[in-house]
Amino acid sequence: MGKKVALRLALLLMASYVAYATDPTQLQDFCVGVNNPINGVFVNGLFCKNPTQATPNDFLFKGLNIPGNTNNKQGSNVTLVSAANLPGLNTLGISLARVDIAPYGLVPPHTHPRGTEIVTVLEGTLYVGFVTSNLPNGKNKFFSVILNPGDVFVFPQGLIHFQFNIGKTPAVVIAGFSSQNPGVITIANAVFGPTPPISIDVLTKAFQVDKNVIQYLEAQFSSGNNY
Ligand SMILES: *[C@@H]1O[C@H](CO)[C@@H](O)[C@H](O)[C@H]1NC(C)=O
Repeated sequence: MGKKVALRLALLLMASYVAYATDPTQLQDFCVGVNNPINGVFVNGLFCKNPTQATPNDFLFKGLNIPGNTNNKQGSNVTLVSAANLPGLNTLGISLARVDIAPYGLVPPHTHPRGTEIVTVLEGTLYVGFVTSNLPNGKNKFFSVILNPGDVFVFPQGLIHFQFNIGKTPAVVIAGFSSQNPGVITIANAVFGPTPPISIDVLTKAFQVDKNVIQYLEAQFSSGNNY
């Protein structure tokens, strides 16, 4: 094998390793998720329905034309279509969401541990951004833009990001994810509102503030999701 061929092969192997770093590639045409198999095999979170029993409805979700109710503290609502409510997505490595954001509403800073997110704005004007992981210089770089209808933006996997409606009208966003189950960690809720709470000694030290500041923040999030 020539050196060039070997190098190309090595690069190809590296590329495929990177490509497999998220959801595994599918091993069959599809794997409609079922919760209760008779003789199931555990595959990527859900069992597969026997393909001969699969129906068109296994691949169908209806209702994404209906806005989510944004009458909550943050003024936003995410309707996620994942393998949980569209079983035909099981093992396919993608999912979709409709995001409704009221005027001055916010999808608060959060991350998706298992997926990159690509969004397009259908209606409204949004200020969106993400922050890098810790860089070698010890800092985090913030990337932000203003999005108008038709604009597309990507939030790389795992990075903290947000979407803020800076317009005077409701915003509608369609989001795609590179996972059938991207997961979400809402930063403030995870840090200030878990059950049981994180020790106040940890939080005062981490955030370099007094106990009363932490207690104030915990009071905002202790009842669970502050939506
Ligand atoms: C989002 O909207 C749906 C549908 O109106 C509603 O059932 C749900 O409670 C809303 N979620 C939040 C967090 O407001």
